[in-house]
Amino acid sequence: MPIKITYLGHSAFQFQSKRHTLLIDPFLTGNPAAKVAADEIAADVILVTHGHEDHVGDTIKIAKRTGALVISNFEICGWLSRHGVKRTHGMNLGGSHTFEFGTVKQTIAHHGSVLPDGSCGGNPSGMVLTLDGVTIYHAGDTALFSDMQLIGETGLDVAILPIGDNFTMGPDDAVRAVQFLHPRRVIPCHFNTFAVIRQDPQPWADRIRRETDAEPIVLAPGESTTVER
Ligand code: NI
Ligand code: MN
Repeated sequence: MPIKITYLGHSAFQFQSKRHTLLIDPFLTGNPAAKVAADEIAADVILVTHGHEDHVGDTIKIAKRTGALVISNFEICGWLSRHGVKRTHGMNLGGSHTFEFGTVKQTIAHHGSVLPDGSCGGNPSGMVLTLDGVTIYHAGDTALFSDMQLIGETGLDVAILPIGDNFTMGPDDAVRAVQFLHPRRVIPCHFNTFAVIRQDPQPWADRIRRETDAEPIVLAPGESTTVER
């Protein structure tokens, strides 16, 4: 089954499978790139890669309104529960779990994870999702790391990678990441939201075409793509 991937701006994406709608890192309120509001977006599941405000975003608000299951690390799930989120599922690095909608595996990310109020947000992560047979890797916020080769070993239909630099890997390291991961397609994120992470994704996409075997898919906020295996 094809999966519809919609870019919501920054690191936020919506994934629609045959029967489920998932959000990852739903930072909409206060996100200058967001094209959709937190009080209107649909979600059955919300994934949170780490504790930073530009990733936790509107998780509490959306989860309370929709009753969505929130999947994150154990510490962030505890914090969300204390803020009134009813359904959470805590995981940790290297762990995978099969849910009704598909499988989630938490992968390492080299970054920070403190929560907006200063609480401990555990370790930052990436996520490998398998939805209706389509495998999607969202790297979260991270530096380049050579163990991306292990993440790519099982075959990725899509990789979603930060290219903004300063807080995460920049365009050059994101090309190297694609060479490690060998995804069939790659979508850039975490750029142009703020001045300090301004990047032109087109020269990067040209390099992906020339220097890797992946197809770059550059989405503007609000745009979608449909991917099959
Ligand atoms: Ni971050
Ligand atoms: Mn971030």
